[in-house]
Amino acid sequence: MTKTLLLLPGDGIGPEVLTQVRRVIDRLNASAGLALEVIERPFGGASYDTLGTPLSDETIATAKAADAVLMGAVGGPKWASAPRDKRPEAGLLCLRAAMGVFANLRPALCFDALAGASVLKPEFVAGLDIMIVRELTGGVYFGQPRFIETLSDGQRRGVDTQVYTTSEIERVSRVAFELARGRRNKVTSCEKSNVMETGLLWREVVADLHKRDYADVQLEHMLADNAAMQLVKNPTQFDVIVTDNLFGDILSDEAAMLTGGIGLLPSAALGEPGKPGLYEPIHGSAPDIAGQGAANPLAAILSFEMALRWSFDRADLADRLFGAVKAALDAGARTRDLGGNLGTVQMGDAVLKGL
Ligand code: NAD
Ligand code: IPM
Ligand code: MN
Repeated sequence: MTKTLLLLPGDGIGPEVLTQVRRVIDRLNASAGLALEVIERPFGGASYDTLGTPLSDETIATAKAADAVLMGAVGGPKWASAPRDKRPEAGLLCLRAAMGVFANLRPALCFDALAGASVLKPEFVAGLDIMIVRELTGGVYFGQPRFIETLSDGQRRGVDTQVYTTSEIERVSRVAFELARGRRNKVTSCEKSNVMETGLLWREVVADLHKRDYADVQLEHMLADNAAMQLVKNPTQFDVIVTDNLFGDILSDEAAMLTGGIGLLPSAALGEPGKPGLYEPIHGSAPDIAGQGAANPLAAILSFEMALRWSFDRADLADRLFGAVKAALDAGARTRDLGGNLGTVQMGDAVLKGL
C-alpha cells in the first residue's frame, strides 16, 4: 500500500540534506518495493518569504494527513527581525503542537568508525548508545503567560512559564519505560526537582508510574545539571534518558558531540499510536555553511531511517539503510564536520553505494 511522506526542506542546509534523503527514497522505491509517495511543501523562512507565514494551514493539513513528515531545518539570520510569531522556529513549534508529537526520540549512538572523531577519548564513547526521550509539546516552550513588558521605571521584564501536568509527564515517561524494556532496561529521569516545582512534580509522577507499571525497569532520578556533567564524564552509564522540553534540547546537543558531531543525530517525534510522526535532524539550518554543499546529510538520512522504522513499518529497510550508513563510515567516508573532506552529495553517494 502506498504511504505518503511530507518533506519540509525549510531553510539553510535543510534543502541540501533532504536532497540526499530523496535520492535514498528514489533508490528504495525503485529497488526495494518501498512505494513511498513524496509530497513537498515550503516551511519555515522559505514559507514566510513566499506565503507570509512559516507554517500555512495547508501544510498543517497535509502533515496531519500524511503517514510521516520529514523536516530539514528552519531558521537563519535572514528572519531574525521577522515578527516573533512569524519566525521560522515558531512555525516548527506550531507544527509539533498541531501534530501532537509529544515524545521526541533522540538517539545518540557512537558508530565504531567514529569513536576517534569524538571530542572525548575513544574509550569513553566506544559502544555509546543513548536514547534521549525529550518531552516536545509542553514545558517552557509553550507555557503561558509569556511576554516582554516595559516597567514603570523604564526597565524591561521578560516572562516565560514552565508548566507541566501529570498526564503530560506520564505519557512521555511511558514511552521512555517502554523503550528501555527493549534496550538495556534502564531509565534516567532528569529534572531540577531541587529548585523547580515542575521538577518536583516530574520526579513524583515518574516515580509513581514506575511503581505502578514499570517496576521491572531500573529507574534513576538525576538532577539535570549533574546529567549534563555525567554525559561527559561517563556517557556509557546511560541507556534511556527522559527529560523535559528545554533540558532535552540542551542535553541532546551535548550528546551529539559525544558521537562525533551534530551533523549525525536524527530524531523521531511521536504522538498517539497511528498518528503521523515528525522526523527531523537535531541540528539547525547551519547558516555558516549553508549553500556550500558541505553539510553532513547523515542526520537527515538517519531521520528517514527512523521514519522507516516507526511510521512505515519497514524495519527491514531501516536496517538496510542503517547498514549502508555504517558501511560508508567504515569505508572512511567523512564530511568536514567529521574531519574529512567529502561534500554533502559525496556523502550521499557513499551511502547509496552501500544500499
Ligand atoms: P546549528 O545546528 O544550525 O549549527 C551549529 C553548528 O553546527 C554550526 O557551526 C553548523 O555549521 C554546524 N552544523 C549543524 N548541522 C550540521 C551538519 N549537518 N553538517 C555539518 N555541520 C553542521 O545551530 P545554530 O547555529 O545555533 O542555529 C542556526 C539556526 O538554526 C537558528 O535560526 C536556529 O533557531 C535554527 N535551528 C533550527 C533547528 C531545526 O530546524 N530543527 C534546530 C536547531 C537550530
Ligand atoms: C531543536 C531546535 C528547536 C528546539 C528550535 C529550532 C525551535 O533547537 O529541534 O533542537 O529548540 O526545539
Ligand atoms: Mn536544539
